[in-house]
Amino acid sequence: MNEHELEQMAKKLVEPGKGLLAADESNNSCKKRFDAVSVACTEQTRREYREILLTTPGSEKYLSGVILFDETFWQSTTEGQVFREYLKGKDVAPGIKVDKGLVDLPGFPNEKVTQGLDSLSEGVETYAPAGAKFAKWRAVITIGDGIPTDECIGANTYTLARYARICQDAGIVPIVEPEVLFDGHHTAEQAEQVMSHTFDILFQTMRAFRVHLPGAILKTSMALPGKDNGGVMDNDEVAERTVRALHEHVPPELGGVVFLSGGQTPRDAFVNLNRIAKLGGHPWGLTFSYSRALQDPVLKAWAHDRNQPAGAKELFLKQLELASAASKGELDESALDTDNFVSHAQDL
Ligand code: G3H
Repeated sequence: MNEHELEQMAKKLVEPGKGLLAADESNNSCKKRFDAVSVACTEQTRREYREILLTTPGSEKYLSGVILFDETFWQSTTEGQVFREYLKGKDVAPGIKVDKGLVDLPGFPNEKVTQGLDSLSEGVETYAPAGAKFAKWRAVITIGDGIPTDECIGANTYTLARYARICQDAGIVPIVEPEVLFDGHHTAEQAEQVMSHTFDILFQTMRAFRVHLPGAILKTSMALPGKDNGGVMDNDEVAERTVRALHEHVPPELGGVVFLSGGQTPRDAFVNLNRIAKLGGHPWGLTFSYSRALQDPVLKAWAHDRNQPAGAKELFLKQLELASAASKGELDESALDTDNFVSHAQDL
């Protein structure tokens, strides 16, 4: 493992004012999103749509990297340039989702583990020489009656730690993502507790499996009240709880922290990030790694008129500008309420 190179790449991914686009939806997730806008989900339409995101002029000002799904990793622009080479040419790091999705954890109703460890070494040995600079592995932690169990957290943090070390040995920066799901009736306080406990076990396990922490990145949820909690989200409370969980339970030497949007409205995802950034004092670079919050309005615009990709690209650039400003704590939140495309994006 070349620790210095891993550290440099991790730092670059969370460089101030830049963040990550998660464009690594599995074909199943992509189908759900395409169904919602009445577009058939095929290899061609997925390529066509993702080309909008990857080739938006000016996006390199706000993007340090893009997380790709295997199919896109090998696809090309309409002009025939392989996407990952195209990104490299714009100094945007190509990343790859390497997990193989979720399965039930036997014996533990409503809890999941992530599969893909068995074939991982082989996978990274293919992706690394082809230009992947970083990887992502997503685990999910569900809050509910009597869950998460320590067994579920343990099973997932074990695979996250093993994955991380395998990536680092291949020269790829691992993004470890223990997503605490937004679904549920829980409070923001419960989300904070579960995040904190998960982080404790995760980093203890990563150390035990000899992961070089400055060459790894955490992708996390925010401490949100559950989607079905019934209350109104208090953005300041979310920011305070998220920052406390991070500052008290994530090692300062880690390479960086990035956030998923997790099904929040784009508006909440931007405002929460802005408030988190404003609280300051973070020992790591901290930024966005959003899929839905960046993409929802763009997908809608593209589906509305696929012959006019320029309009969808313009919207994407606007979403990136907002996310970038939020990551620096410099977002003009008052402008969001009148921004049609942001406030209505959840209608998708
Ligand atoms: O693994 C999760 C995705 O990379 C982030 O997606 O921002 O829609 O939650 P999201």
